[in-house]
Amino acid sequence: AGKAVTLRGELSGLFKSALSTAFPAAEEAPIIASCNNPQFGDYQCNNAMGLFGKLKGKEGAPKNPREVATAIVSSLPDNSTIDNTSLAGPGFINCKVSSAYLAGRINALMTQGVASLAPPLRYKRVVVDFSSPNVAKEMHVGHLRSTIIGDTIANTLEFCGADVVRLNHIGDWGTQFGMLIEHMAELRPGGLAESRDEDVADLQTLYRAAKKRFDEEEEFKVRAREAVTRLQSGDEECIAAWQRICDASRREFQAIYSRLGVTLQERGESFYNPMLKDVVEELCEKGVAEVSEGATCVFVEGCDVPLIVQKSDGGYGYASTDMAAIKQRVQQEKADWVIYVTDIGQAPHFDMVFAAARKAGWLPEKGSAQPPRVSHVGFGLVLGEDGKKFKTRSGDVVRLVELLDEAKQRCRDSVAARREESGDPIDEAELEAAACAMGYGAVKYADLKNSRLTNYKFSFDAMLELKGNTAVYLLYAHARIAGIVRKAGKDVDALVAGGEAFKLEHPRERELAMAIVQFPEALEDMLEELTPNRLTDYLYTLSETFSNFYTECKVLGGEAEDSRLILVEATARVMRQCFKLLGITPLYRI
Ligand code: ARG
Repeated sequence: AGKAVTLRGELSGLFKSALSTAFPAAEEAPIIASCNNPQFGDYQCNNAMGLFGKLKGKEGAPKNPREVATAIVSSLPDNSTIDNTSLAGPGFINCKVSSAYLAGRINALMTQGVASLAPPLRYKRVVVDFSSPNVAKEMHVGHLRSTIIGDTIANTLEFCGADVVRLNHIGDWGTQFGMLIEHMAELRPGGLAESRDEDVADLQTLYRAAKKRFDEEEEFKVRAREAVTRLQSGDEECIAAWQRICDASRREFQAIYSRLGVTLQERGESFYNPMLKDVVEELCEKGVAEVSEGATCVFVEGCDVPLIVQKSDGGYGYASTDMAAIKQRVQQEKADWVIYVTDIGQAPHFDMVFAAARKAGWLPEKGSAQPPRVSHVGFGLVLGEDGKKFKTRSGDVVRLVELLDEAKQRCRDSVAARREESGDPIDEAELEAAACAMGYGAVKYADLKNSRLTNYKFSFDAMLELKGNTAVYLLYAHARIAGIVRKAGKDVDALVAGGEAFKLEHPRERELAMAIVQFPEALEDMLEELTPNRLTDYLYTLSETFSNFYTECKVLGGEAEDSRLILVEATARVMRQCFKLLGITPLYRI
């Protein structure tokens, strides 16, 4: 068997073998965890207690869990990974990992690149549906969260070798276009034929005005409905107006994506429009959907509302499109994993969509390990510092462009001031790059570091803090580390190639090496639960571990300079990979 990428996986393999040798009949899966107290070891195997319970009363059963533990330990295959084991408590098996193992892993990271640390994935082709704002409406902080979380998940999947299709399922279809088109038609004496781009320059205002009329004028409402019908039947003027609106929205969305460095492929709701009729028919034929009170519905057990796949007036809605999309993604796109990133409020919607797709036979039974797999990645709200809904002082929705501008400006000011103070003023190009990296990085990191399900308070002051778990702190930490290597003036790769022997003698050296080697475990955990904060926690811990090391271990001019320099550079490389996954641009000098 090939070496596992994670240390945890490697230990699992060793204990699996020990368990099947010592207790072949029990068919125990190894339970491996990190040691809470590093004094006792690095990892522990926790099988003895449970296994003792299982064996109790049987013939020749062990007398106590410690006896079970002893038997497991003596069955461990020969290996160079574990340095020694010890028993603790009722029967915990503590393992200390050998320094030679850690040194070997760091050597591999340096020679084969950080990509060699990517844990393998069971899925080959993954669709990530994220960001997905709505045309003509403001892209709000909820979409910003989806964009940031989705991008990190997609980056990590790609790093682990998946072929990722990043889909922007924008809301570019639906009845709201009727009122928009009808309102646009009235802006010009000659109607839609005379429409100009400037008519849609301010989409929010257009939307609000059209909505007001739709709500207040019965006669306008009727005309808006007629416009929807014309649009759906392909009327050229209506289609042109619709396109104009979509283009204007697209430009606004793209401005945000460019700043954030996020790439996405637009495949909006309109893409699925031609499939809706067949999909609904298929659902009816298969008995998945039925007509109830005029509407075509899928009733899902445990849900108090049905999924409406066709409204009683014959129209199709959000749910119809999602049914067509899930089918298209698994059957045409051949995705073996489809991930949806939206606010947690949509969890019931996706539960129903997934259940309906299972009933239709497009997905395997619930709980099946067979692909295609589907996941809804829900997230909580972004709140203002007052703990209420995030709004501007005047009560309007916060414009994302302005939010990013402010983050960037604050970073610009603080970096410029710090550099001025230190007597080493920064030049304009460098300042601009630093301000973007820090400002946008801070916004992203502040979002990603929270457990995604909880609401979080948006606070510039907190996210731009120079100390603590912030992007700003981490970017400075990385720049300091890069500075150490720069100052040494040595080619670290040449040191590695020259066979520089690793010394992991000091406890802080060993701790740092361990933290570096644990990078793949953080990735594994993050993808298991689709929780980006696993990755930010890891990055922060790595940085803290580095700073403990650097406080106690002299690098430049010390005895172990070359060996320690390799450790320093390895830390920097793993940090940079983390930044990349988080969508943050690392800085080498601030
Ligand atoms: N446009 C939707 C919204 O703003 C999000 C779409 C998510 N994706 C999906 N396939 N339903 O809430």
